[in-house]
Amino acid sequence: MTVPVLSTSDVVVEYRGRPPLRAVDGVSLAIGAGEVVALVGESGCGKSSLARAVIGIEKRASGSVRFGTSDVPVLGIRRRPHELTGMQMVFQDPNSSLNPRRRVGDQIGDGVSAALARGEAGSDPAEWLERVGLDPGAARSYPHEFSGGQKQRIAIARALAARPAMLVADEPISALDASTQTSVAALMRALCLDAGAGMLFISHDLSVVRRIADRTLVMYRGRIVESGHTETIWQDPIHPYTQALLAAIPVPDGAGRLPITPQDADRLTWTEAIPEALERTAP
Ligand SMILES: Nc1ncnc2c1ncn2[C@@H]1O[C@H](COP(=O)(O)OP(=O)(O)OP(=O)(O)O)[C@@H](O)[C@H]1O
Ligand SMILES: [Mg+2]
Repeated sequence: MTVPVLSTSDVVVEYRGRPPLRAVDGVSLAIGAGEVVALVGESGCGKSSLARAVIGIEKRASGSVRFGTSDVPVLGIRRRPHELTGMQMVFQDPNSSLNPRRRVGDQIGDGVSAALARGEAGSDPAEWLERVGLDPGAARSYPHEFSGGQKQRIAIARALAARPAMLVADEPISALDASTQTSVAALMRALCLDAGAGMLFISHDLSVVRRIADRTLVMYRGRIVESGHTETIWQDPIHPYTQALLAAIPVPDGAGRLPITPQDADRLTWTEAIPEALERTAP
């Protein structure tokens, strides 16, 4: 088998408190080149904690993360060795990830420099703007001159300009207008596939997940309770939590997102480990 781009083994993340909170409770996963894997689950189940642990900016209580054949150390985002720029992140809020005082072309240029520092091919920031559907002349503009959806496209362009083999995206579309959510998600998929990169895509929007993810991981209380081929899970969910989650998808109303945490008297059964719900392949 080829080496996955990203793999984790029994990752545990705990936060201090009395008692300590185990936000991620032993997660093992593997993502291959050109594979889009979605991570879904209700608010607070540990998705962002896992994403931060994967990129090495959250302390792990135990477990390991590998990017290709390298171990991912736990370090501040600015102290990561340059090999690790082959793993890029896109976060929910482009306002906090873009520098308001720098031209967008220069910020995309940071991604280009990261690629060059790893011996990868350089590129022109204007081309990236075009690839994410913006005017290449916009390179001279500042972030405030763009809408939220456009800013997120710029953040995606900067991440991809670094020519990552892996993109970790934590709710990259939830701050966008409903009308642009699907197109930005589809664009992320297309660009990752073009580049042969893997993507971990975290979203509340299950209708978008179904459209763009090859595989889906369903998380509940820090654990992956069901995983596998997206369409297999949607058509025949085995785990009772997955069943409740999918049943809570509202009738399409344009927003298409999960409005509430599923309320269910059966919550106790949701912590059950059901081995046959894991790593389900297409029939
Ligand atoms: N820095 C922190 N310190 C203490 N507790 C935290 C911290 N970050 C997250 N938590 C707690 O850990 C649990 C998991 O949080 P996390 O942000 O990973 O969930 P999530 O699945 O990303 O939720 P959401 O869908 O709302 O973004 C929650 O109970 C949260 O309150
Ligand atoms: Mg989160």
